[in-house]
Amino acid sequence: MDAEAREACTRYVAELFAPEDEVLEQLRGAIAKEGLPEIYISADEGRLLQVLLRAINARTAIELGTLGGYSTIWLARALPADGKLITVEIDRTHAELAQRFIERAGLAQRVELRVGVALEVLAELAEHEPFDAAFIDADKENYPRYLDWCLENVRPGGLVIADNAFRGGDVVDGDSDDPEVVAIRQLNRRMAEDPRLTSIVVPTRDGVAIGVVNRG
Ligand code: SAH
Ligand code: DHB
Ligand code: MG
Repeated sequence: MDAEAREACTRYVAELFAPEDEVLEQLRGAIAKEGLPEIYISADEGRLLQVLLRAINARTAIELGTLGGYSTIWLARALPADGKLITVEIDRTHAELAQRFIERAGLAQRVELRVGVALEVLAELAEHEPFDAAFIDADKENYPRYLDWCLENVRPGGLVIADNAFRGGDVVDGDSDDPEVVAIRQLNRRMAEDPRLTSIVVPTRDGVAIGVVNRG
């Protein structure tokens, strides 16, 4: 299949399996209008997250890096009404936009948005009961530390998911020693090799690493 046909198939799948409702459409508009970075997941990745969360019957999840809440809304919609998604965002402007749209989506009960530094919030949450799933999408240099936390705080049978496994292709650029790229390579290698996980990278636009925490 050539690149053009592959793109057409990607569009076909997104339109068929991951149509956006008004809230998600308006949120993308607001992110552009208010000048936030347009680095949220694609709709088909959102749908993939929902499939994964539903497959493990997730009731609780944690997200690192909320931005405007686009991925937050996809994730929260895969949880039951009495489920809980904690999402962590360092930037108050991002968090304010996200909170507006979480409310507009009717998800305020299910989503707890914490404004803060992810590693600090994670330290506070270590007393929390284990999470069913984690979605890592904040600052790339800390990805290996986020994985450490997840290995202690996601239940057996739960999911550790990390966005941007390809880092725009830089992970396979032997010349790149950018600390963010080095950290993502380390995350990918550890997810591949750690005996506590069964993992793969699914080649979405920028790649998403998905690991199941092994039981026993
Ligand atoms: N998950 C979002 C995109 C997140 S973009 C989506 O797909 O819709 C990454 C976000 O992580 C940015 O909003 C950035 O402000 C936030 N971030 C960066 N470093 C962080 C840190 N140390 N702690 C918490 N959030 C951080
Ligand atoms: C960037 C960050 C992301 O989380 C993403 O999905 C795409 C790009 C970035 O920092 O450029
Ligand atoms: Mg990302």
